Amino acid sequence: MTTARNIVLIGPPGAGKGTHAQLLEKELGIPHLSTGEMLREAAAQGTELGLKIKTLIDGGNFVPDEVMVPFVVDKIDSPECKNGFILDGFPRNLPQAQLLDKMMLERELKIDIVVKLQVPDTYITERILKRAKCGKCGHMFQIEKSEDVCPKCSSSDIIRRADDNLEAIKHRLKIYRTVTAPITPYYEDKGLLVCVDATRSIEQVAAFVRQAIEY
Ligand code: AP5
Ligand code: MG
Repeated sequence: MTTARNIVLIGPPGAGKGTHAQLLEKELGIPHLSTGEMLREAAAQGTELGLKIKTLIDGGNFVPDEVMVPFVVDKIDSPECKNGFILDGFPRNLPQAQLLDKMMLERELKIDIVVKLQVPDTYITERILKRAKCGKCGHMFQIEKSEDVCPKCSSSDIIRRADDNLEAIKHRLKIYRTVTAPITPYYEDKGLLVCVDATRSIEQVAAFVRQAIEY
């Protein structure tokens, strides 16, 4: 049995891509590449480009491919990815999917598997509105009350995302359905797609993902 090394996680906002990429990173020892995190880090720099990125992502809008793609190329070419990677948030449209294939082919690499986390819209809004990240240990969880602390390390340094509001969620879902959804048949045609029911508990979904990446 082989374990996939170059893994792509896809699915709507709030499906659990970041959660499961983090778990896989720990389990497999290969890096989690989140384009959302790359962009939030760039936005926090406060440079001219960073401020443009911040305006786009806070409103739930895509960053143009010519800005996004170099971030991903740099990461895939870095030594930390020499044994594989878990991509979360990329590709997000057909041109990005085609470009990723080209990039991989040029490096004599290939995507081993694309795991789609399937969740109906009814789960998404609640999950996103309750989403919190620990500023100390990076753990992602669901916050129930404003005074909650990180369930892992008890830190009260809790980070919320600027795009986690009802208006931006609605917009992100619309873009997902129109621009991102076509990558599902693209990967299905290539025989790389495995769909996972991501409505279950995090532990159950993690077990499904684990099964999917063993082949
Ligand atoms: P990004 O950060 O990738 O946001 P997203 O795709 O909208 O996805 P999320 O991060 O919101 O959700 P997730 O699937 O990671 O869920 P999570 O694990 O956190 O991108 C942000 C923005 O950057 C985009 O809108 C766009 O503007 C821009 N961008 C990014 N990539 C780009 C690209 N390639 N091109 C152009 N622009 C790009 O889980 C959510 C919550 O639910 C958490 O609290 C978690 O604890 C909880 N949870 C997870 N699973 C479960 C479960 N099974 N049961 C209960 N709770 C659960
Ligand atoms: Mg995420």
